[in-house]
Amino acid sequence: MKRIRINTTQPYDVVIERGSLKKCGEYVASITSSRTAAIITDDVVEKLYLGDVRRSLEENGFKCTSYVFPNGEQSKSIENLSKIYDFLCESEITRSDIIIALGGGVVGDISGFAAASYLRGVDYVQIPTTLLAQVDSSVGGKTAIDIPGGKNLVGAFKQPSIVISDSDTLKTLPPETLADGMGEVIKYGMIRDEALFELLEKYDLETCDNIMDEIVANCVDIKRVVVEHDTLDKGERMILNFGHTLGHALEGWHHYTGYTHGMGVAAGMCIITEKLASPEIAERLKSCVQRYKLPTGTDIPMSELLPFCSKDKKRESGSINYIICKTIGNAEIVKVAVPEFARLMEG
Ligand code: GLY
Repeated sequence: MKRIRINTTQPYDVVIERGSLKKCGEYVASITSSRTAAIITDDVVEKLYLGDVRRSLEENGFKCTSYVFPNGEQSKSIENLSKIYDFLCESEITRSDIIIALGGGVVGDISGFAAASYLRGVDYVQIPTTLLAQVDSSVGGKTAIDIPGGKNLVGAFKQPSIVISDSDTLKTLPPETLADGMGEVIKYGMIRDEALFELLEKYDLETCDNIMDEIVANCVDIKRVVVEHDTLDKGERMILNFGHTLGHALEGWHHYTGYTHGMGVAAGMCIITEKLASPEIAERLKSCVQRYKLPTGTDIPMSELLPFCSKDKKRESGSINYIICKTIGNAEIVKVAVPEFARLMEG
């Protein structure tokens, strides 16, 4: 078992342990004096894990209610958020009770935002069940919903009270969902951890379960350092966006269907590295990305992707902050005017 303390304004632990989902009630009981829990999940995770989570919470004295919504990004909507508020109201959740987000990034983001806003803030727990959620979205306190104007445009920073990460849950993931998370994992190696990157070069999508606890712990620890320095995403935290400017553009171009976030990040990292770093680094990144069955580029013309880049919410007026790794394990943030970014990418 690994326990990583995240020292943000409200410090909390990330517990990384195989089998922890089935004993989550013990962990939840250790961080709240309430014994009323509202579990929020989706209809895929419900079938796999809601029974175990509920059982463990009840064994530890919790009275539980649950709300289940359809799996998928379309559920990260204002309409679903409104239904979650109704559920919390009907469950008579008070400010001293606890909300449990059980699932992947969509569940974590919308439940976290409900927790940030309902009654002006209720404590919540993240039980991430996808690799992407375990290494990224469950840690760091970003919560959000999507609106017609764009993804994650409405949200709040709200740190969870504990994150319970069980690598055994990743065994039930379809390979493409595991690969989705590996896009972010490779990113962590590139931006901060050459040893992690070298480890990833020795495994592949079929064999990486053997090192999953180590992978998750390394990624969470990298995110810990970044988030502790820059919780509100005004500077250093931007390095977590390596590959994301083009990645988000690729996701947007595909209308967020049939093309995962991890695919976008992988292709985005490869494209920018090929253009702006040495051929040797670009080749190493490309072969690592291929090991995890992720794309190393795109056939979509840059002229079609660039309009999506200048819509990215991370841009500042007239400029784009892009991230480049000239060596493995080291990232730089570079701010350029939008036309200069276009010139670099089209060159
Ligand atoms: N997913 C990027 C961040 O948490 O800042």
